[in-house]
Amino acid sequence: MSLLETLKWRYATKRMNGTKVPAEKIESILEAIQLTPTSYGLQAFKAIVIENEALKEQIFTEACQQPQIKESSHLIVFAAIKNVDAKQADDHIQLIADTRGIPAESLAGYRSMLELKVAENEDRNFIWTSKQTYIALGIAMVAAADVKVDATPIEGFNPSALDKIIGLSEQNLGSVTILALGYRDDANDRLATAPKVRKSKESLISII
Ligand SMILES: Cc1cc2nc3c(=O)[nH]c(=O)nc-3n(C[C@H](O)[C@H](O)[C@H](O)COP(=O)(O)O)c2cc1C
Repeated sequence: MSLLETLKWRYATKRMNGTKVPAEKIESILEAIQLTPTSYGLQAFKAIVIENEALKEQIFTEACQQPQIKESSHLIVFAAIKNVDAKQADDHIQLIADTRGIPAESLAGYRSMLELKVAENEDRNFIWTSKQTYIALGIAMVAAADVKVDATPIEGFNPSALDKIIGLSEQNLGSVTILALGYRDDANDRLATAPKVRKSKESLISII
């Protein structure tokens, strides 16, 4: 399948059939998340994988009453770092230096640009880091479709309830989206065969 055919095949699955996604497919989706480009390359988020049925049940009851939570094989919670601090900036500089075999000091200019983020308050940091999670969410959806795994991006949940259940606040993290992974339930998902609803290219895209 070409990329465009894959994008036409995927849809935000409303009902899943509970079939487990094989570990190697989950691995490839997680590797795509790892490869996601982010601003400054900082990767200021975490992807938390949940397979445990009791935990999914608790999330369904307390944070998100959407059927995919229970019917999925895995959930991936995208959680953004709330406060970008100097240590994260330094660690990132060190990672670049080590990976590319260059002195950290040669990245002083880059480090001072990161300092602008460190200096911002938590609210602004979280808006910025949350945006990065959407890039990872998008890439993960495409990666899932590439290995013929269905996925539902979910924003309709109670983030503070979810943060509490999986202990995110004490890790300087806040949940932003959930990606449910599994397989479509053709018999019960009326959207499985529904045509895609999209604006025309003419109205969406403007070439100037
Ligand atoms: C960021 C984001 C959040 C979404 N939240 C939900 C959600 O909470 N529940 C749901 O069933 N679908 C959710 N959707 C799915 C969209 O409604 C769906 O992607 C859109 O209507 C386009 O349809 P398609 O993905 O099936 O092509 C979300 C999609 C995105 C990108």
